[in-house]
Amino acid sequence: MTSLLLDAQGISHSFDTQLFSNLNLSLRAGECSAIVGRSGSGKSTLLHICSTFIKPDEGSVSLFGDDLYSRSDDAIEAVRRYEIGIIFQFHYLFKGMTAMENVEIAAMLSGEPIDEKIFKKLEIADVMGQKIGELSGGQQQRVSIARVLSKKPRIIFADEPTGNLDNETAGLVMDVLFDYVREHDAALMLVTHDMQLAARCDHLYRLEAKMLEEV
Ligand SMILES: Nc1ncnc2c1ncn2[C@@H]1O[C@H](COP(=O)(O)OP(=O)(O)OP(=O)(O)O)[C@@H](O)[C@H]1O
Ligand SMILES: [Mg+2]
Repeated sequence: MTSLLLDAQGISHSFDTQLFSNLNLSLRAGECSAIVGRSGSGKSTLLHICSTFIKPDEGSVSLFGDDLYSRSDDAIEAVRRYEIGIIFQFHYLFKGMTAMENVEIAAMLSGEPIDEKIFKKLEIADVMGQKIGELSGGQQQRVSIARVLSKKPRIIFADEPTGNLDNETAGLVMDVLFDYVREHDAALMLVTHDMQLAARCDHLYRLEAKMLEEV
């Protein structure tokens, strides 16, 4: 049996109104799952719950076999820093620095060597010396993906990682993510509006009417 990297059980969460109740979601090593759903249905919130940022009102999140939110803040921070990678819907790069410096910081923080092949695969090798502010939106997005992969995460949480990209570049970015998962026996949770990309995952879930259903 392949190992369970993420196991979220009985998850409920509300902000002003209830977003979802009693959701279950799990991810095994080597697996890619996609979550689709209307804007505002709570996809990003669910991803943040599974990736250390939001403790759900109810339910438990287990990462790598340990209950996440019963741990100390320092232990949760360590999981966020060393074990998982998060590609945000809105990326957070250091604007005054070059693309390479952004990746170097992530690699340094996690103690991993930089894999320069990633830059070639993402077609950003030629812009790594440029300041973030001089890059296009899609190039910045790919730098943020390179930065996340350079941490060698065991799970990648990706929130609309191809939102700023044309179809061809989006496909190329997804190839890089899928290859990474396969090569490292990692896992991917992908939130997307692109059904074509979602369909390339092992599992496809729809978040609708406060429930998560496999489609
Ligand atoms: N920190 C917060 N405080 C209050 N309300 C929030 C917070 N984060 C999200 N919400 C609300 O929860 C709902 C779901 O937001 P979420 O970002 O999870 O949706 P989404 O499915 O990712 O949408 P999109 O496809 O547009 O990215 C929205 O109505 C949003 O306003
Ligand atoms: Mg979102």
